[in-house]
Order: sequence, then C-alpha cells, then structure tokens
Amino acid sequence: MKVRKAVIPAAGLGTRLLPATKSVPKEMLPIVDKPTLQYVVEEAVKSGIEDILILTNRSKSSMEDYFDYHPELEEKLRASGREEEADAIRGIADLANIVFMRQKETLGLGHAVYCARSFTGDEPFAVLLGDDVMDGEKPVTLQLVEAAEEYGCSAVGARHVALDQIGKYCTLRYEEMPGEDKIFRLLDAIEKPRPEEIFSDFAILGRYVFTPGIFTALADQKPGYGGEIQLTDAIARLAKRETVLAVDFEGRRFDTGNVPGYLETVVEYALSSPEYGGWMREFILKKARELS
Ligand code: G1P
Repeated sequence: MKVRKAVIPAAGLGTRLLPATKSVPKEMLPIVDKPTLQYVVEEAVKSGIEDILILTNRSKSSMEDYFDYHPELEEKLRASGREEEADAIRGIADLANIVFMRQKETLGLGHAVYCARSFTGDEPFAVLLGDDVMDGEKPVTLQLVEAAEEYGCSAVGARHVALDQIGKYCTLRYEEMPGEDKIFRLLDAIEKPRPEEIFSDFAILGRYVFTPGIFTALADQKPGYGGEIQLTDAIARLAKRETVLAVDFEGRRFDTGNVPGYLETVVEYALSSPEYGGWMREFILKKARELS
C-alpha cells in the first residue's frame, strides 16, 4: 500500500475567528508571511503526497487563486530584479497537483471527507485538517503514512490531552500493539465526549490516513454531535471492521481556528523564523519588561 493522495477539508465557515473570516478564509490567514494552508500543503508534500484535493466552499475562491500562477505579479517582481521572490511565488503553484472541490453544504467533517471519494478512488489517502498546523521534525502525516503502509491499514494521529480539554476533541479506547510503544490499536472513539463518556485522555488531532473502507462507513453514517456527520463516528465503525492504528505522533500541534490558538501560532512561528526570530524575541522581552 502506498499513500500518494491527500484531502484537505477547508470548507468550514471559521465562526471562531469572526469578523476576519467573514470574507477571508481562516486557512488563508497568515502565520508570519505564509497562509496556514500553505504549511498544511507543504507538510503533505514532505510526506510524499503528490495529488491534493482541497475542499472549499463558495466564499473561499482565494484559496484557488493562491495555488495558481500569477504572471502579472511575477513579471513585476522580475522586472525589478526580485528573481528569487518571483520564483518562490511561482513555486507555490507547483508544490503538488492541487485540485479543488466545493462542499456545497457544510454538513460536517465526515460529509466533507465523503465528498472526496471520486478523487481518491480505490487508493488509501491522507486527510489533513486545514486549520491544524503541525510542526514535527518528521512531518506528522509522514509518521502516519509510515505506520499505515507498514501495517496496511488506516492510521489516525493522536495525542494525550488534558482531561478537562478532551470534550473539545474526541476520546479513544485503544489497546497496545506487540513491540510498539507509539502505535496502538484503536477500538472505539467518541466525538466531543461528555464527562461520563470519556474513555481516555487520548484524542485524534487533525491528521489521518484511511483505506477506502472509510467510505463504506461514511456512506450510511448518521448525524452525530452537533447534528453533523462526524468523521470520528465513522472511524469508530471502521475500527470494528478493519484495523485502525492510533499513532502517538511527535511534534507540536497548533490550532489556528480560534483567536488565542491563532495568536499563539503566529508568535511561535515568528520566534522560530530565521528572518524575524531575533526581532520577535527582542520585542517580547521589551514588552515583558514594560509589563512587569
Ligand atoms: C475536529 C475533529 C475532532 C478532532 C479535532 C482536532 O473537531 O472532529 O475529532 O479532535 O478536529 O483535530 P473540530 O475542531 O472541527 O471541532
């Protein structure tokens, strides 16, 4: 089994970042000088993905423009000797084979993934949530791809989160696998659990690799939490029929889909930027002195 395709659901309305996201997709908000979505696409590419489907909606055409050529801008940059920048601008459109599809109704993450079935066909594929930015020495998607390819099955990215936060994610029931300390077998999952439903502090966070079996589960998946077709519910059913791995991945995860998470991501990435890191550090230290 070889994972070559990825789906990036990016059709959400971004209601936790209003008013900015009234006309700018949350995936297009900049983390330092690149939109969130570019980090996600770059992670997919570094994980060996060649074909990417980005699921959008009617107010998100700027995402399509971003991954297209922009001859006028390139020409202007080249005319003023800014060759490197022109190449970088062009390179964005050449990162991978990127296609777009509109999710006509926002019926939930499970519905979004189900929309991708004609794109993936019979192949396994990765799913990367468009507002989760991951920063791992080895790309997080690659960690899942390697586990999925080794065992020939689906794999989800999971982490231990604070128990009082688990209601924002999902909770996993899982068992150990012989000879593995970071890879577990997923047995059950509940999306946005109530306190009495919590299996563990282990939650899926933003990255998945699926066999086409997920579509069989999604085909008749009933609406779950929030009245939406939940991907987690379909994963729980898939795990009853096929092996699904939960990979305790390495790397930091940033949720850019809400204001505090977005601000934290910008500051962290600015601090580790070769270009702005020194400046950002000085600025934070100066501010800290002023505030103390
Ligand atoms: C989604 C998933 C949830 C996951 C979370 C973080 O929830 O449904 O299982 O834990 O992303 O990646 P959302 O953040 O869209 O509410």
